[in-house]
Amino acid sequence: MSTMTAPPSNKAEIVNVPFEFKDLVARHSPGGRYIEAETDADSPWVPFGDNAAIKHLAFDVRTGIFSNILWVKGPGAIGTHLHRGTIMMVCLEGSVRYLEYDWVASPGGLILEVPGESHTLVTDHPNGVRLFGWMQGPIEFYDENAQFVMTADVWWFMNHYETYCRENNIPINQKLYL
Ligand SMILES: [Fe+2]
Repeated sequence: MSTMTAPPSNKAEIVNVPFEFKDLVARHSPGGRYIEAETDADSPWVPFGDNAAIKHLAFDVRTGIFSNILWVKGPGAIGTHLHRGTIMMVCLEGSVRYLEYDWVASPGGLILEVPGESHTLVTDHPNGVRLFGWMQGPIEFYDENAQFVMTADVWWFMNHYETYCRENNIPINQKLYL
């Protein structure tokens, strides 16, 4: 068999792919899904302080994964925090930088953050920044005196979402729970 250099089929037609464990998948897989993010239909913007909001997209309590869009609405900062897990973020709009690094993220760019790193997020863009994140593991937040304040993990993000929904009579969207 030669090495694949292009998709073997580009026909827009469903092919019945053989897979011996389809019945197990049907019984046990949480299933793929689409979470719409252009409107609030699937998930509302939940305030995170005065200048930021979070649109929660997914929670997976088995792996401690949470996904959301962080929107910093204008020039501002998210104070220094320490990661215990791995973060993957894509800049969707605006721009963002960290005081600890020498790069500035712009739309389409990928940001990787690794366990043990602490850093301070700043946006200088007039419209702030929107960041899509697929994140794993707790994030520890510190105040300006380097005093530990709180841990944000999958349970914190879930509670942030559910509390806002309860207070605003928004039904909990089961699609967000993997
Ligand atoms: Fe971070």
